[in-house]
Amino acid sequence: MCGIVGYIGDKKAAPILLAGLKKLEYRGYDSAGIAVQEKKAVKIVKKEGKLDKLKSRTEEEVFYGRTGIGHTRWATHGRPSDINSHPHTDSFSEIVIVHNGIIENFRELKEELSAAGHQFKSETDTEVVAHLISTYYDDDLRTAVNKTVERLEGSFALAVMSRQEKDKIIAVRKDSPLIIGLGENENFLASDIPAYLEHTDNFYILEDGEIADIRKDKVNIYKFNGDLIVNKNKTKISWDAEMAEKQGYQHFMLKEIHEQPESLKRLLEDNLNGGQIDLTASGLAEDWLDNYDKIHIVACGTAYHSGALAKYLLEDKLRIPVEVEVASEYRYRNPIVDAGTLMIVVSQSGETADTLAALRLAKKKGASVLALTNSRDSSIARESDMVIYLKAGPEIAVASTKAYTNMVAAFYLLLVDGMRQRDNISDQITAEYTSDLIKLPEMIRKLSEQSKEQIQAIANNYEDKENIFFIGRNTDYTLALEGALKLKEISYIHAEAYPAGELKHGTLALIEEGVPVVALGSRADIFSKLFSNLKEVKARGAETLLITEENQKFETESVDHLIELPILNKDFAGLLAIIPLQLLAYYTALNCGEDIDQPRNLAKSVTVE
Ligand code: F6R
Repeated sequence: MCGIVGYIGDKKAAPILLAGLKKLEYRGYDSAGIAVQEKKAVKIVKKEGKLDKLKSRTEEEVFYGRTGIGHTRWATHGRPSDINSHPHTDSFSEIVIVHNGIIENFRELKEELSAAGHQFKSETDTEVVAHLISTYYDDDLRTAVNKTVERLEGSFALAVMSRQEKDKIIAVRKDSPLIIGLGENENFLASDIPAYLEHTDNFYILEDGEIADIRKDKVNIYKFNGDLIVNKNKTKISWDAEMAEKQGYQHFMLKEIHEQPESLKRLLEDNLNGGQIDLTASGLAEDWLDNYDKIHIVACGTAYHSGALAKYLLEDKLRIPVEVEVASEYRYRNPIVDAGTLMIVVSQSGETADTLAALRLAKKKGASVLALTNSRDSSIARESDMVIYLKAGPEIAVASTKAYTNMVAAFYLLLVDGMRQRDNISDQITAEYTSDLIKLPEMIRKLSEQSKEQIQAIANNYEDKENIFFIGRNTDYTLALEGALKLKEISYIHAEAYPAGELKHGTLALIEEGVPVVALGSRADIFSKLFSNLKEVKARGAETLLITEENQKFETESVDHLIELPILNKDFAGLLAIIPLQLLAYYTALNCGEDIDQPRNLAKSVTVE
């Protein structure tokens, strides 16, 4: 959600800024712009729409400058337009600024500044910040920015330049991520690491309440109170730039679907010790289950779906109460959470604003927080008491696939580690579960290869449909939720997920001739119940797709399309069933001709609530 880049060094800034923005495209945006320090003025080009438009606009201008900032905007205050795009300036174009986040008190500030004679060109909250900085500016940009942030409420990451001080970029972070890439006689600024991985693997991760003075040959970082931070830790990133490239795949999403066996293996190996699950590196005690009387799982979107699946398994096997809730609801009610609560927050990006707020709420009430996240050094990782890193590698497509798989797998690890601690579960059963878990990556690899063509054929049939239903029971219901979300977010076809047994309480009315219904039947234990529901929709004309394990017995006349899964422990079959659902969403969107990696209106990292 919005991307910030910055460059200061000996090379021409514009191409480096544009390349950095390209790498951040996945975050989602509707307009983009750059500002470069030229001899006499700061030159700004900004454009509504995709980066290609901005690129052709910049080609009409000549940029010589070696210092600049850039931005991809995801509209919050004011519609997407050239005027509302960043960078923004004050009235005299002295101060130039890009911003991620939301300034909650911008109306009050705007009124105050308007009364003092400031005139605004855009509808954005960001422009107000540029004007405010100019009122404090007295030849020292850092001091002016510092005074400004004291007046701001909300979340923000800012990159600021002044026409008077061409040798620096000032960057500030409060509740919105910002990193500084360190090079030789050049430094980079970005809201996420992939922007500049090809230039450096050495980064400062700014913390909340820090302000950086970035020059080409040094970076000083201060606290908001003005104290210089000495010996700030540098982070070495082990991803290489290639991992964040498409490597011959048509889309990042398809690449990431096919990366799942490898990334899942990485997570499992990281948490196995001599063939036994060992989660102590996360900070969990060996007998962690004894320390809590309930579990709360809180997350958003796809991450929430992984938690919904986990609830069924953890309660069934560990007999501990588990609540699962979307973070935007949890944070604005008064949940019963205390020192006996293990709060599990799940987040690929580690920066989702609502999840972070829910984490803070639970911590304040005494809960212990375990994060399942893909992002080392993210806010969620840093603020949690314990962390299991998902090890999925960079996930660029907005629609999450490999991170979801590793979220579910991380819950499987917790499940089996919990089973070891329960006296009523034998060592033999725990060992069988562990060995089933280890089989998963290879089974996923084979299934992705084997089911691809069949799914492409089914997808050809879906592209003209207006509504598609997904049904399942137990963990399969949570897969239905994820399958429906995946399909609608990238193909824009309306999709709904229902607990299969709930259909006849209303939704069955929507089933008519030709409406596709995807029935998830990966759980052998309740297959017959699911199949009765499939027959109900078939009797009303639905076009049915059944996903179930091979050798399952059923009346074939009720099934129009069948995808068979290899046989595995019913509790782990979900990670097999999700593969055809991801591929189905992908190929349907491909047929619909949609922008698969960057679906409209969506952002990869949702840093505003
Ligand atoms: C959907 C998707 C989103 C995210 C959600 C939470 O494919 O990716 O629903 O799962 O925005 O994001 P994280 O996991 O970064 O907290």
